[in-house]
Amino acid sequence: MSLKFINAKRIEGLDRNVWIEFTKLAADPSVVNLGQGLPDISPPSYVKEELSKVALINSLNQYTRGFGHPPLVKALSCLYEKFYQKEINPNKEILVTVGAYGSLFNAIQGLIDEGDEVIITIPFYDCYEPMVRMAGATPVFIPLRSKPVDGKKWSSSDWTLDPQELESKFNSKTKAIILNTPHNPIGKVYTKEELQVIADLCIKYDTLCISDEVYEWLVYTGNKHLKIATFPGMWERTVTIGSAGKTFSVTGWKLGWTIGPNHLIKHLQTVQQNTVYTCATPLQEALAQALWIDIKRMDDPECYFNSLPKELEVKRDRMVRLLESVGLKPIVPDGGYFIIADVSLLDADLSDMKNDEPYDYKFVKWMTKNKKLSAIPVSAFCNSESKPQFEKFVRFCFIKKDSTLDAAEEIIKAWSKPKS
Ligand SMILES: Cc1ncc(COP(=O)(O)O)c(C=O)c1O
Repeated sequence: MSLKFINAKRIEGLDRNVWIEFTKLAADPSVVNLGQGLPDISPPSYVKEELSKVALINSLNQYTRGFGHPPLVKALSCLYEKFYQKEINPNKEILVTVGAYGSLFNAIQGLIDEGDEVIITIPFYDCYEPMVRMAGATPVFIPLRSKPVDGKKWSSSDWTLDPQELESKFNSKTKAIILNTPHNPIGKVYTKEELQVIADLCIKYDTLCISDEVYEWLVYTGNKHLKIATFPGMWERTVTIGSAGKTFSVTGWKLGWTIGPNHLIKHLQTVQQNTVYTCATPLQEALAQALWIDIKRMDDPECYFNSLPKELEVKRDRMVRLLESVGLKPIVPDGGYFIIADVSLLDADLSDMKNDEPYDYKFVKWMTKNKKLSAIPVSAFCNSESKPQFEKFVRFCFIKKDSTLDAAEEIIKAWSKPKS
């Protein structure tokens, strides 16, 4: 084989991907898919209607402004000004990208250099580590650790960062920390005090914060999503990432956005103008119109930012009851639409599975094949050293129709029945 066929060094060792592997397995129509974060509920009707309207307008089928379609950045600035309590310049402080993936890519390529260190909490959304490595930087990991919860429900809020351990990860090479709140896969919603610890360290060590807040609207009773960029001294060093896919349950639209000060956003714009250049115009226009509908009724229970978490909280509670009914102890999420549980208690016979994989990879493959139920192994959200700590956990997605959850319930309940 020609040496010229060899991969670029920057992608060495990054060829395996959990979504590619497990989405393929779950594609069998007989499988009930609680794997990838893919809503099978209908997106709001007005979101779909706006998209069907724009295709009829000739000019909206052509390229638009590269850094974000003007009506969309205007709608986003209007939406977020309420939360940042400051004006947000639609052209200089917002960048619209290809999903939150695109935002993460632009931020990491635009701001992180060879030799830099980037702090990542374990478990983490799986693309953080390869993106940091592709930029030539070194990821520095810190685990979320759980306190003991004997006898009581296990909550995502039991998982915390140790402030001293966190400080030990910062040094003069630290360029950024990647924060994810609400958290995927644990569902943790960082509190004001926890965010203050991170903000203080970012300021003390003159570090940037890349804040992935794609599940920002999806927080459950008793919790509040807070933006670290609004903490004193943090706006100037934070880029905050959002996603249309998560906001309106339209993951296939693949539109995301980054908000931050122009002195950071301009570097992300440089990456964008030399890579994807611009995002799909009809989707951006439809998203802008849909956002206006909800911006005008933010305090109304009908507003999707209020109604979706209410709808999901019922599904979350149903999943908790279901998993508990078969003897599992799920970690009850305070936000997001995933729930994780230690499945080793189900005592599945994995002896036929290939032995060179973490327990959760074998378990999910076995469950998909034998029980026709799919999920995602949590060790996919870990670096290689920390996989053993999480390999007994799998992640179930609950942004699903009741009929899908009924089917999952039937499978899980039948499984746990003693064989007659
Ligand atoms: C934490 C987190 N960040 C980023 C993304 C990517 O979002 P998008 O589909 O908008 O690219 C996801 C998708 O699941 C996610 O869970």
